[in-house]
Amino acid sequence: MLLDGKYVSEKLKGEIAGGAAKILAETGRKPHLVAVLVGHDGGSETYVASKIKNCEQVGFKSSLVRYENDVTEDELLQKVAELNADADIDGIIVQLPLPKHIDPEKVTEKIDYRKDVDGFHPVNLGRMQRNLPSFIPATPFGITLMLKEYNIETSGKHCVVVGRSNIVGSPISILMARNTYPGNCTVTICHSRTPDIKNFTLQADILIVAIGKKNFITADMVKEGVVVVDVGMNRETSTVTKSGFKLYGDVDFENVAPKASWITPVPGGVGLMTIIGLLRNTLASANKEVYK
Ligand code: GUN
Repeated sequence: MLLDGKYVSEKLKGEIAGGAAKILAETGRKPHLVAVLVGHDGGSETYVASKIKNCEQVGFKSSLVRYENDVTEDELLQKVAELNADADIDGIIVQLPLPKHIDPEKVTEKIDYRKDVDGFHPVNLGRMQRNLPSFIPATPFGITLMLKEYNIETSGKHCVVVGRSNIVGSPISILMARNTYPGNCTVTICHSRTPDIKNFTLQADILIVAIGKKNFITADMVKEGVVVVDVGMNRETSTVTKSGFKLYGDVDFENVAPKASWITPVPGGVGLMTIIGLLRNTLASANKEVYK
């Protein structure tokens, strides 16, 4: 059956809008997210535009700060410092990837961890690992909200994560092993140096794939009844779609779906839940729920 990102994200957006309305009624202000976008990468443009649009939909204020590719690291760090100091701002995201001459670690660490609604700052990652209140990275957070919504059993299950990125693979593996729900899984992380990945994916009760390769997971790599979460966002040009692009996941959906008990589609799955993770973090920041 389908883990339906459209259905879940619309439902949760309603709840988030309620939270924003309450803040507005009580304080006269809206939760405020600032997105910083450098350059004109097609994927990044699309994601940031979607984040801004969703902010409007739930009654948040949003701002977009744009730079060309030739912005210096110092200029960017200076802007982040300015945004950190602005009391009207609850959340700051700097869209990744950044141009090669800018160190993403420096920028990530410059963001005040109390406004780090991407959850990428080492303070938030460390606190997450220790099961302390923190901002959880948006995509892993969205995945946990999806599993929760469908009451997917996770305790004692073998969760295999394919991919070890800072944004998805690494944090979701921590979350799935934590002593919480969803969590309490036995977690295996597979990556580019894992020999015979199929040997591991075949053991998965829950398979989370974030490797960035179209149709990487095929039907022969999964067991009957597996729960599949496809984080892939592989954009290809298309003459058929209005946008000129078509999105593909990392999983061969057509052939894997008949074996799966639950599976996320692409599009319409994890991508929509990532936005929910970001909105939830921004609302939590505005409510001072994580940090006073
Ligand atoms: N690039 C890809 N995913 C993300 C994300 O969740 N946040 C930011 N800032 N950049 C990204």
